[in-house]
Amino acid sequence: MLLENLVAVILFILPAYIANSSPVIFGGGEPMDFGKNFADGRRILGDGKTWRGFFVGVAGAVLTGIIVYYIVRASAQYAFWENAEMEKYVLLGFLLGVGTMLGDALGSFIKRRMNMEPGKPAFLQDQLLFLVLALIFALPLMPAFINLEAVIFLVALTYVLHVSTNFLANRVGLKKVPW
Ligand code: CTP
Ligand code: MG
Repeated sequence: MLLENLVAVILFILPAYIANSSPVIFGGGEPMDFGKNFADGRRILGDGKTWRGFFVGVAGAVLTGIIVYYIVRASAQYAFWENAEMEKYVLLGFLLGVGTMLGDALGSFIKRRMNMEPGKPAFLQDQLLFLVLALIFALPLMPAFINLEAVIFLVALTYVLHVSTNFLANRVGLKKVPW
Protein backbone atom coordinates (compact mmCIF):
# COMPACT_ATOMS: atom_id res chain seq x y z
CA MET A 1 0.00 0.00 0.00
CA LEU A 2 1.22 3.49 -0.84
CA LEU A 3 1.55 6.14 1.86
CA GLU A 4 -1.29 8.09 0.21
CA ASN A 5 -3.50 5.03 0.50
CA LEU A 6 -2.63 4.59 4.18
CA VAL A 7 -3.61 8.19 4.89
CA ALA A 8 -6.83 7.67 2.89
CA VAL A 9 -7.68 4.56 4.95
CA ILE A 10 -7.05 6.47 8.20
CA LEU A 11 -9.24 9.39 7.05
CA PHE A 12 -11.95 6.91 6.05
CA ILE A 13 -12.05 5.22 9.49
CA LEU A 14 -11.66 8.44 11.55
CA PRO A 15 -15.47 8.86 12.12
CA ALA A 16 -15.56 5.38 13.73
CA TYR A 17 -12.67 6.25 16.07
CA ILE A 18 -14.36 9.49 17.13
CA ALA A 19 -17.65 7.63 17.70
CA ASN A 20 -15.88 5.04 19.84
CA SER A 21 -14.04 7.56 22.03
CA SER A 22 -16.41 10.53 22.48
CA PRO A 23 -18.93 8.73 24.78
CA VAL A 24 -16.16 8.30 27.36
CA ILE A 25 -16.16 12.10 27.75
CA PHE A 26 -19.75 13.06 26.89
CA GLY A 27 -21.72 9.90 27.77
CA GLY A 28 -23.82 9.18 30.85
CA GLY A 29 -27.44 9.37 31.94
CA GLU A 30 -30.23 6.97 30.99
CA PRO A 31 -28.81 3.51 30.14
CA MET A 32 -29.84 2.08 26.76
CA ASP A 33 -31.38 -0.97 28.45
CA PHE A 34 -33.30 1.34 30.86
CA GLY A 35 -31.89 -0.68 33.75
CA LYS A 36 -33.67 -3.85 32.60
CA ASN A 37 -32.42 -7.43 32.96
CA PHE A 38 -32.15 -10.15 30.32
CA ALA A 39 -33.69 -13.65 30.68
CA ASP A 40 -30.57 -14.78 32.59
CA GLY A 41 -31.28 -12.23 35.34
CA ARG A 42 -28.30 -10.03 34.46
CA ARG A 43 -28.44 -6.58 32.88
CA ILE A 44 -29.09 -6.52 29.11
CA LEU A 45 -26.22 -4.07 28.45
CA GLY A 46 -25.33 -2.43 31.78
CA ASP A 47 -24.82 1.16 32.91
CA GLY A 48 -21.81 1.69 30.62
CA LYS A 49 -24.04 1.97 27.49
CA THR A 50 -26.17 5.13 27.60
CA TRP A 51 -28.44 6.85 25.05
CA ARG A 52 -26.49 10.08 25.34
CA GLY A 53 -23.27 8.16 24.64
CA PHE A 54 -24.91 6.50 21.61
CA PHE A 55 -26.13 9.76 20.05
CA VAL A 56 -22.96 11.66 20.92
CA GLY A 57 -21.01 8.90 19.16
CA VAL A 58 -23.14 9.02 15.99
CA ALA A 59 -23.17 12.85 15.93
CA GLY A 60 -19.39 12.94 16.44
CA ALA A 61 -18.96 10.52 13.53
CA VAL A 62 -21.14 12.62 11.20
CA LEU A 63 -19.24 15.78 12.17
CA THR A 64 -15.95 13.96 11.54
CA GLY A 65 -17.25 12.87 8.12
CA ILE A 66 -17.79 16.55 7.25
CA ILE A 67 -14.29 17.47 8.46
CA VAL A 68 -12.81 14.61 6.39
CA TYR A 69 -14.67 15.99 3.35
CA TYR A 70 -12.87 19.33 3.76
CA ILE A 71 -9.49 17.67 4.34
CA VAL A 72 -9.88 15.57 1.20
CA ARG A 73 -11.08 18.57 -0.81
CA ALA A 74 -7.91 20.44 0.17
CA SER A 75 -5.58 17.44 -0.37
CA ALA A 76 -7.02 15.37 -3.20
CA GLN A 77 -4.20 12.78 -3.08
CA TYR A 78 -5.81 11.33 0.07
CA ALA A 79 -9.31 11.11 -1.41
CA PHE A 80 -11.02 7.73 -1.31
CA TRP A 81 -13.74 8.97 -3.70
CA GLU A 82 -13.28 11.10 -6.78
CA ASN A 83 -15.21 14.37 -6.67
CA ALA A 84 -17.71 13.17 -4.08
CA GLU A 85 -20.33 15.54 -2.68
CA MET A 86 -20.39 16.36 1.03
CA GLU A 87 -23.58 14.29 1.41
CA LYS A 88 -21.61 11.12 0.75
CA TYR A 89 -19.18 11.90 3.58
CA VAL A 90 -22.10 12.67 5.90
CA LEU A 91 -23.65 9.30 5.01
CA LEU A 92 -20.30 7.55 5.53
CA GLY A 93 -19.93 9.22 8.95
CA PHE A 94 -23.45 8.20 9.88
CA LEU A 95 -22.96 4.54 8.83
CA LEU A 96 -19.58 4.27 10.59
CA GLY A 97 -21.06 5.94 13.69
CA VAL A 98 -24.12 3.69 13.92
CA GLY A 99 -22.01 0.58 13.18
CA THR A 100 -19.49 1.56 15.85
CA MET A 101 -22.10 2.22 18.54
CA LEU A 102 -24.03 -0.98 17.73
CA GLY A 103 -20.80 -3.00 17.78
CA ASP A 104 -19.92 -1.42 21.11
CA ALA A 105 -23.36 -2.28 22.54
CA LEU A 106 -23.17 -5.81 21.09
CA GLY A 107 -19.86 -6.23 22.92
CA SER A 108 -21.50 -5.23 26.21
CA PHE A 109 -24.40 -7.62 25.56
CA ILE A 110 -21.93 -10.49 25.05
CA LYS A 111 -19.94 -9.49 28.16
CA ARG A 112 -23.06 -9.41 30.35
CA ARG A 113 -24.06 -12.89 29.10
CA MET A 114 -20.58 -14.06 30.13
CA ASN A 115 -21.24 -12.56 33.59
CA MET A 116 -18.57 -9.87 33.19
CA GLU A 117 -19.06 -6.61 35.09
CA PRO A 118 -18.97 -3.34 33.05
CA GLY A 119 -15.41 -2.12 32.72
CA LYS A 120 -13.90 -5.62 32.87
CA PRO A 121 -11.61 -6.16 29.87
CA ALA A 122 -12.54 -8.57 27.05
CA PHE A 123 -9.48 -9.33 24.92
CA LEU A 124 -9.90 -8.44 21.19
CA GLN A 125 -13.65 -7.82 21.56
CA ASP A 126 -13.18 -4.46 23.36
CA GLN A 127 -10.67 -3.31 20.74
CA LEU A 128 -12.09 -4.70 17.51
CA LEU A 129 -15.82 -5.51 17.59
CA PHE A 130 -16.80 -1.87 16.97
CA LEU A 131 -14.46 -1.83 13.95
CA VAL A 132 -16.01 -5.00 12.49
CA LEU A 133 -19.54 -3.59 12.74
CA ALA A 134 -18.44 -0.17 11.42
CA LEU A 135 -16.86 -1.83 8.36
CA ILE A 136 -19.94 -4.00 7.74
CA PHE A 137 -22.15 -0.89 7.82
CA ALA A 138 -19.86 1.08 5.48
CA LEU A 139 -19.34 -1.83 3.06
CA PRO A 140 -22.42 -1.19 0.85
CA LEU A 141 -21.25 2.41 0.34
CA MET A 142 -17.68 1.53 -0.70
CA PRO A 143 -17.29 -2.19 -1.49
CA ALA A 144 -14.07 -1.80 -3.52
CA PHE A 145 -12.24 0.40 -0.99
CA ILE A 146 -12.76 -1.96 1.96
CA ASN A 147 -10.54 -4.75 0.62
CA LEU A 148 -8.50 -7.35 2.48
CA GLU A 149 -5.39 -5.16 2.57
CA ALA A 150 -7.30 -2.22 4.09
CA VAL A 151 -9.02 -4.47 6.64
CA ILE A 152 -5.74 -6.05 7.82
CA PHE A 153 -4.15 -2.61 8.17
CA LEU A 154 -7.19 -1.29 10.08
CA VAL A 155 -7.31 -4.25 12.47
CA ALA A 156 -3.65 -3.75 13.39
CA LEU A 157 -3.91 0.05 13.65
CA THR A 158 -7.14 -0.05 15.65
CA TYR A 159 -5.76 -2.60 18.11
CA VAL A 160 -2.61 -0.58 18.78
CA LEU A 161 -4.48 2.75 18.98
CA HIS A 162 -7.23 1.38 21.24
CA VAL A 163 -4.77 -0.09 23.73
CA SER A 164 -2.57 3.03 23.81
CA THR A 165 -5.38 5.64 23.94
CA ASN A 166 -7.23 3.80 26.72
CA PHE A 167 -3.98 3.59 28.67
CA LEU A 168 -3.60 7.37 28.22
CA ALA A 169 -7.27 8.06 29.07
CA ASN A 170 -6.73 6.17 32.31
CA ARG A 171 -3.55 8.09 33.14
CA VAL A 172 -5.23 11.49 32.66
CA GLY A 173 -8.24 10.37 34.71
CA LEU A 174 -10.85 10.00 31.94
CA LYS A 175 -11.25 6.26 32.50
CA LYS A 176 -11.17 4.30 35.72
CA VAL A 177 -9.46 1.34 34.05
CA PRO A 178 -6.66 1.35 31.46
CA TRP A 179 -8.68 -0.60 28.77
N1 CTP B 1 -20.38 5.29 27.25
C1 CTP B 1 -21.70 5.75 27.22
N2 CTP B 1 -22.56 5.31 26.26
C2 CTP B 1 -22.18 4.42 25.32
C3 CTP B 1 -20.85 3.95 25.31
C4 CTP B 1 -19.97 4.39 26.30
O1 CTP B 1 -22.09 6.57 28.06
N3 CTP B 1 -23.07 4.03 24.39
C5 CTP B 1 -19.48 5.79 28.31
C6 CTP B 1 -19.77 5.14 29.67
O2 CTP B 1 -19.55 6.13 30.65
C7 CTP B 1 -18.74 4.04 29.75
C8 CTP B 1 -17.54 4.67 29.06
O3 CTP B 1 -18.11 5.47 28.01
O4 CTP B 1 -18.46 3.66 31.08
C9 CTP B 1 -16.52 3.66 28.53
O5 CTP B 1 -17.11 2.88 27.51
P1 CTP B 1 -16.83 1.32 27.41
O6 CTP B 1 -15.44 0.98 27.77
O7 CTP B 1 -17.35 0.90 26.08
O8 CTP B 1 -17.87 0.74 28.52
P2 CTP B 1 -17.59 -0.04 29.87
O9 CTP B 1 -17.93 0.89 31.01
O10 CTP B 1 -16.28 -0.67 29.86
O11 CTP B 1 -18.73 -1.14 29.89
P3 CTP B 1 -18.76 -2.57 29.10
O12 CTP B 1 -18.09 -3.56 29.96
O13 CTP B 1 -20.21 -2.79 28.97
O14 CTP B 1 -18.09 -2.36 27.79
MG1 MG C 1 -14.69 -0.94 28.60
